[in-house]
Amino acid sequence: MTVSRALGRRLARLATNAVVRNPRLWRIFRALLRRQFDRLAPRWDGIIGPAALDAFRQALETVPPPRRALDLGTGTGAAAFAIAERFPAAEVIGVDLAPAMVEAAAAKTPAELAGRITFLEADASALPLPDGSCELVSLANMIPFFAELERVLAPGGAALFSFAHGPATPIFVPPKRLRMELSARGFSQFADFTAGAATCLVARKR
Ligand SMILES: C[S@@+](CC[C@H](N)C(=O)[O-])C[C@H]1O[C@@H](n2cnc3c(N)ncnc32)[C@H](O)[C@@H]1O
Repeated sequence: MTVSRALGRRLARLATNAVVRNPRLWRIFRALLRRQFDRLAPRWDGIIGPAALDAFRQALETVPPPRRALDLGTGTGAAAFAIAERFPAAEVIGVDLAPAMVEAAAAKTPAELAGRITFLEADASALPLPDGSCELVSLANMIPFFAELERVLAPGGAALFSFAHGPATPIFVPPKRLRMELSARGFSQFADFTAGAATCLVARKR
């Protein structure tokens, strides 16, 4: 691993831990992470690897079909495409802070999904979406902003938190911490999924 890649992973871990504890610290990390992921976009699919979503795909089998699904920190769109394939009637929105990620995801969109999948450049800490407008919100290797996630998720909706390499993922939030934050916001029905190194937690909003 190159020095710059190792530093990038440390930055992602530091930002995740800080922002989960205090979301206001996001303004310190925002520009740095945006630049980092913009640079990584052309190589991202090779970095993340093909097994990253194995637990996420299992978890998707257990949630009700959404009318609209939102994939936060979508990167090159892998989780958004998985949702669109699993739920053929769903509208899917993939959001990312890094313009190069959004461009890469849009360019990869298969023609058969193009009518119901959209990629937007936006910040998951301040989403341009109405309250309760999504029945499913997913985060794959992404820093959670719990207040905003709760705001856009419809009552009864499902939130999925997926990590490609479990605790070894640079952007990782321990399941205990996720459960604590989510329980405090009225989420319940937690379920854990594991496939190889990949993990996924599902929670439902009351
Ligand atoms: C580790 S990558 C994961 C990409 C993709 N979900 C995957 O698993 O392949 C994290 C992504 O989240 C994006 N990101 C980080 N913070 C964000 C925020 N506040 N709002 C939107 N996207 C964000 C980054 O630009 C990056 O593309």
